[in-house]
Amino acid sequence: MKRILSGMRPTGKLHLGHYVGALENWVVLQESGEYETYFLIADYHSLTTNLDSSHTYQNSVEMAIDWLAAGINPEKSPIFRQSQIKAHTELFLIFSLLITTSRLERNPSLKEQVRDLELDTISYAHLGYPVLQAADILLYKGSVVPVGEDQLPHIEITREIARRFNQAYPKPNGEAVFPEPEGKITQFARLVGLDGKAKMSKSLGNTILLSDPLSEVVKKVRTAVTDTAKVRKHDPGNPDVCTVFTYHKRFTRAEEVKQIDADCRSGALGCVDCKTRCAASISEFLAPILERRAQLEQKPDDVKAILLEGEARARKVAEQTMSEVHEAMRLG
Ligand code: TRP
Repeated sequence: MKRILSGMRPTGKLHLGHYVGALENWVVLQESGEYETYFLIADYHSLTTNLDSSHTYQNSVEMAIDWLAAGINPEKSPIFRQSQIKAHTELFLIFSLLITTSRLERNPSLKEQVRDLELDTISYAHLGYPVLQAADILLYKGSVVPVGEDQLPHIEITREIARRFNQAYPKPNGEAVFPEPEGKITQFARLVGLDGKAKMSKSLGNTILLSDPLSEVVKKVRTAVTDTAKVRKHDPGNPDVCTVFTYHKRFTRAEEVKQIDADCRSGALGCVDCKTRCAASISEFLAPILERRAQLEQKPDDVKAILLEGEARARKVAEQTMSEVHEAMRLG
């Protein structure tokens, strides 16, 4: 069976953007029965942009809880931390032989991070970020990698590395050790932030968390930007430029969305009422996730055991790949 590998950096509690952009799709792929699914917590990756590791473990556990609450089934899909499987760092080093620093300096995601985080210098590991990601994927011979569009440059680098490894170090029987993985873009890939910015993101502070209770969702949706030309309650509005309407389209029943669209345009529906309904839809959507989350939060040891088990399963696969790598490299 083909294998899917995807991952996230452990940023702590996840938000709706993570769900719509990734998690939802992961669950569909897990349930499709067409693939083996492996989900990685990229804790080393998170240290490339923030050296403070004091919250890394807790953030990994919080993220694992959100994954489980959203429907990742650990019996089907191992979930595991990169830092707990030594093969990641080992393959990272071997892959570092196969790519030039100038290729990595051209990586557009790196350029974006340098700009957004206003970095003056880049560490060796940060430059090598996509090389570690290639190791993450290829250790498990992932052939399909569901990611957001922003990750495609990293998948391209992974493909280059796989090709180069296979060429430099074929197996004794001439076969390739690694597949050339393909990125698989998520359909409804983006959720607009509460402030109307293109993306929900923790650093922008414009998110609704998967763990937000109704009261919090109501408060947050109240701050969401709407059509700025709709000033008074009964002014006609334009849903096409309204953040709240994008959430309705995603979380409210189709018939109701149609009615909201019409009533906003005619001026019958004011923004305050519209937002209340939006918060209700989002909360209804979040209710089962919150419920599962509450159960898991009461059993932190179970969550930790799930990680250890996922790590044991992943480690076996990773070690098998590493023995093929060593054999192909004829290192003795
Ligand atoms: N770089 C990815 C991100 O920032 C996270 C990641 C690490 C990843 N390793 C991976 C994604 C392997 C897919 C496959 O979101």
